[in-house]
Amino acid sequence: MKLTIALLPGDGIGPEVIHQAVKILDAISEKYNHTFEYKKADVGAIAIDKTGNPLPDETLEICSSADAILFGAIGDPKYDKDHNATIRPEQGLLRLRKELDLYANIRPVISYDYLIHKSNLKKEIVEGTDFIIYRELTGGIYFGEKKFSEDGKEAIDTCKYTASEIDRIAHLAFKAAKSRRKKLTLIDKANVLVTSRLWRKRVKEISKSYPGVQLNFLYANTAAMQLILKPTQFDVILTENMFGDILSDAASVISGSIGLLASASIGKKTALFEPIHGSYPKAKGKNFANPLAAVLSAAMLLEHFQLIDEAEDIKNAVEKSIELNITTPDLNSTNHFSTTNVGNFLRDFILDDENTFYNK
Ligand code: IPM
Ligand code: MN
Repeated sequence: MKLTIALLPGDGIGPEVIHQAVKILDAISEKYNHTFEYKKADVGAIAIDKTGNPLPDETLEICSSADAILFGAIGDPKYDKDHNATIRPEQGLLRLRKELDLYANIRPVISYDYLIHKSNLKKEIVEGTDFIIYRELTGGIYFGEKKFSEDGKEAIDTCKYTASEIDRIAHLAFKAAKSRRKKLTLIDKANVLVTSRLWRKRVKEISKSYPGVQLNFLYANTAAMQLILKPTQFDVILTENMFGDILSDAASVISGSIGLLASASIGKKTALFEPIHGSYPKAKGKNFANPLAAVLSAAMLLEHFQLIDEAEDIKNAVEKSIELNITTPDLNSTNHFSTTNVGNFLRDFILDDENTFYNK
């Protein structure tokens, strides 16, 4: 298969982790005879530094004409100092999501057997966790009208949802639940927000088309608690933009590190794949950031094009690295490996057909 992949490494540790993800994609293309053509472009703080724009036209053009986008991370602390700053790196990612209509952000959360003892949560709580978050990504309070009064004493963010925005992601989430353990949990704040009441109404209606799927509801605050108390109760979680952002970071504790969670953002045409972690400015350039979330995002990219064996190869290599403790300091406080070392191990494991060396 021939794919054109737009590479947007972005800020902080983004370039380091994307470099490893590309190494792994190259190993896959070598093994399976695919052709992946990369087109690199700037986004975020680095794009502001170069052009004044967090999403330059050229980047948007490269992304729209690519088959898929592999994204690193975004954000730079220098923009946090000035709360009145009108141009921020994050706007690059937000505009990209909006322009490409990437309305469904899919974030799988699983527990890894070999990491269970390292979790901050008890083994019996984490064991067997396997759920997937469907986060709405182009609506809600992130994109509603915003106002900052001239005297600087009042600010307004608006949360707005339309039925069609809810329906399209709800269908995707129900389809996912149908092919999994057939349970869908809608997370909202329907006791307070009218937008949440609209979500419930639409999702209840849509559930009639998926009779095999059991639907239940949780308020976002209760859900935050339940995710930590009993994560195994969840199969597919459907939620709006901001709750999805907050709850997916909370859920990352279950896997053992936020450096493990990958995501896919699906729209009408080009899909985007990115780790859920941020730019981790303190680790920038130090070669110890965990590349696994970026590598697993590349696996999600391959799955999106039905390259199932290829994606499976990557996931097996990741599991092996975890089993053998060939991991970065977030997962391995004593004998940790560098970002590059982990990437090299994954590449060698994928290319070594018999896996003779590492199974010894
Ligand atoms: C994420 C990030 C973004 C978000 C930021 C960088 C704008 O936290 O992808 O989860 O809030 O959506
Ligand atoms: Mn987030």
